Amino acid sequence: MEGTVPLSITSIPAINGAAPRRQIRRAKPARNSGRFKPGVVLHGLLAITIMSTTYATEIDDTLTIEQRVAALLADMTLLEKVGQMSQLNAGDGNAPNSLGDSLRAGRIGAVLNSENVDTVNELQRIAVEESRLGIPLLVGRDVIHGFKTVMPIPLGQAATWNPALVREGAIVAAHEAARTGINWTFAPMLDISRDARWGRIAESLGEDPYLASVLGAAMVDGFQGDDLAATGTIAACAKHFAGYGASESGRDYSTTNIPENELRNVYLPPFKAAVDAGVSTVMTSFSELDGVPATANEFLLKQVLRDEWQFKGLVVSDWNSISQLKVHGLTEDDKASAFAAVTAGVDMEMAGNTYISHIADLVEHGSIDIAMIDAMVANILRVKFRLGLFENPYTNPDDLPAAANEHALETARKAALQSVVMLKNDHATLPLSQTDLISVAVIGPLADAPVEQLGTWIFDGDVGLSITGLQAIRSLVGDEVDVRYVRAMETSRSRATEPFAEAVDIARDSDVVVLFLGEESILSGEAHSRADISLPGAQAELVRRIRQVGKPVVAVIMAGRPLTLTNMVDEVDAILYAWHPGTMGGPAIADLLFGHESPSGKLPVTFPRMVGQIPIYYNHKNTGKPPTPESIVHIDDIEEHAPQTSLGMTAFHLDAGYKPLFAFGYGLTYAEFDYQNISVSRNEIGLGESLTVSAELTNRGDVAADEVVQLYVRDLVGNVTRPVKELKGFKRVRVEPGARVTVSFELHTDDLAFYGRNMRLMTEPGKFDVWIGGSSETALRTDFRIVEDN
Ligand code: NOJ
Repeated sequence: MEGTVPLSITSIPAINGAAPRRQIRRAKPARNSGRFKPGVVLHGLLAITIMSTTYATEIDDTLTIEQRVAALLADMTLLEKVGQMSQLNAGDGNAPNSLGDSLRAGRIGAVLNSENVDTVNELQRIAVEESRLGIPLLVGRDVIHGFKTVMPIPLGQAATWNPALVREGAIVAAHEAARTGINWTFAPMLDISRDARWGRIAESLGEDPYLASVLGAAMVDGFQGDDLAATGTIAACAKHFAGYGASESGRDYSTTNIPENELRNVYLPPFKAAVDAGVSTVMTSFSELDGVPATANEFLLKQVLRDEWQFKGLVVSDWNSISQLKVHGLTEDDKASAFAAVTAGVDMEMAGNTYISHIADLVEHGSIDIAMIDAMVANILRVKFRLGLFENPYTNPDDLPAAANEHALETARKAALQSVVMLKNDHATLPLSQTDLISVAVIGPLADAPVEQLGTWIFDGDVGLSITGLQAIRSLVGDEVDVRYVRAMETSRSRATEPFAEAVDIARDSDVVVLFLGEESILSGEAHSRADISLPGAQAELVRRIRQVGKPVVAVIMAGRPLTLTNMVDEVDAILYAWHPGTMGGPAIADLLFGHESPSGKLPVTFPRMVGQIPIYYNHKNTGKPPTPESIVHIDDIEEHAPQTSLGMTAFHLDAGYKPLFAFGYGLTYAEFDYQNISVSRNEIGLGESLTVSAELTNRGDVAADEVVQLYVRDLVGNVTRPVKELKGFKRVRVEPGARVTVSFELHTDDLAFYGRNMRLMTEPGKFDVWIGGSSETALRTDFRIVEDN
């Protein structure tokens, strides 16, 4: 009946001594009608279903979310409140049976890892129809870089420097995930990472606070949209708060030591940007910070997140990280851990039972004030109301576009295309000519590896959708070029070299060799850190043998991190660095190889020459003894009986110098870009004012291409020392051959603010150098001043 809304009025007996309540709840409207039709379940002493066009409800649409939260909280028993604070694993395939009783008792507020729509609907039905208050569930999942359709790993997406595309990827992922009833993703991961050994660098948006802030906010926007209650939007989660990327020696879960000034200037800005973008949830980190695990860190969770940033969403622990407080050595037992996490401000426990086991007791014995619990439950309910779950807890997949539709695949292809960074292209080896080539040898463990190109965190990725490099090259060149393929290595880690003979043979018989090298998915991601980050297994040897054949060699490298390529970089003519490019990696790579598209990715992270240079990042401090090309000495050049001192006396390594192999922001193209004439609109500005920085960019080549134009700044004198360069803006522009464009950036003095000695955000008058160019090594510079009174 159009326009009528069924109301279920339920009078419920007291639980745990609370007064009997009368709760009137509007049943769900028909968004999901059709596939799933929940029945009216009678529960409690009295249940009546009436049909009405008006809502005579305590919790109705005329109330604000805050009023609805307050009304609901007033109805809740302590155990129901604690239930909301618990998220349980529903990934055992039998979730409704194993979790049913707890759901009915109102002892679960959220689940994770249930991705079957019927299961999720059944879980929601039990929560909504069979629990006393009928509070719907948050249904969480790691939707990290796509769902069925897999986008490039986040580090690859960061290499696109394209917020609109990153946002679109998140929209596609949200739609696909929402079809299964998932309403909460544990993404984006915003941990700044300056350590390529850390396996989770793959999930990160790289080393730079500004780039990660812009792209992280774009992801939040993509997942959440303008209206969290709309069909197909899901709550995002900024994780892992905070400092996880600084794990000692890149070992996952390891200790971090980050001075507060560096924390505020480097590690926290992406989280602040996500909060400003309206992120609904924040996840704590497994790591400790300054001796206090993040999951019990009041400074982070209360002072910074709540007080300074005014975050109103929900804070969830990481998987069992509350119980781990005991393992860290912070608490004696689970009860003390629950106490520590609650009082630090962790609203919800993920996949543990310390809250459900101990909070009620801690409240009843006066250790925790109920007002604190109420505020935490309010944070959880607020997200549920914003998601529109009370009105609409069920999912009908047909309300959303089919997964892996044309748009999804095209978004994945575009993202893969723009994520690939061309690191090297000697003698214009690339692009390959479809018409001039007679044969190409495709060799390597990652040429035809549908799973491996997807990367880490692909729980739900549809491997059947993957188009590999080999498949795509074959379909692109058709009969025009003879494509010969030898895998040569079973996995990227294989050490056997016998199969190399066949690879060498086909290389010898072909016009060009395309080597697909790198790391399999399993070598990066959570708990998959490496101490040696060169090409694993016998790959370097494979490269060496192929090189000896004397044919042009192109390396396509798929990896979850920057690899140290020093031992192979001179052995190949060209390198396309493709990260783990996702479902459509193959077509993107084939288009780049054959020049249907020009490479346009830029490095979101510095590539070290040697692992011993780590941490190495572009926005380092100058030191009192900055190295120069003249000041460095190589270990091989030290005279036999050299004096023990005065070797350069600057900040460099005797065996690695001070430069990376490839710098942040670097990436080549088939066009020929030339930057000139940098200028500022004003030489001096006052605090609170802006100026425009511009430069001319000419494409002197003969193909159209995208270029990511980057703006860097250096604050020359500071209350605390400032980095030698800091990214402050970027734009992806398309430039036709022969065309010249002026690229301008508006810079406000607030953009130049940093945390000083007193840990307050400040912009200081003084001189600033400013650069525009195609990488962090650009030399096109001018300057301006901020003056006190202008
Ligand atoms: C642990 C990981 O650290 C976190 O990133 C993830 O979201 C949760 N597990 C849930 O799977």
